[in-house]
Amino acid sequence: MCDVPFVEKKYLDKLPDFHRDSLGKNLCVCNEIPKFIIVDAIIAGATTLEDVRKQTYATDGNGCCRLQVERLIDYLCEPKPVKPNGLEEEKI
Ligand code: FES
Repeated sequence: MCDVPFVEKKYLDKLPDFHRDSLGKNLCVCNEIPKFIIVDAIIAGATTLEDVRKQTYATDGNGCCRLQVERLIDYLCEPKPVKPNGLEEEKI
């Protein structure tokens, strides 16, 4: 486990306790990527698994942490606007 850098409270508040309490532990054990590195990448704009993989190498092993990374993206990213027909609106 390593020292966890400062993460803004507004982002910490979006995470369940078990994630907040384990930010310094490796989420991606294949590549030894601590959870706070992944959280930091998501906060900085990595909103897809591919973005997170490119920036952190998490999910780049056998992919066993993909679901956990997806959940972090869900917790930390604002929901995309949805059109009345149920489709997500594209960003302009
Ligand atoms: S734990 Fe991340 S790819 Fe295996």
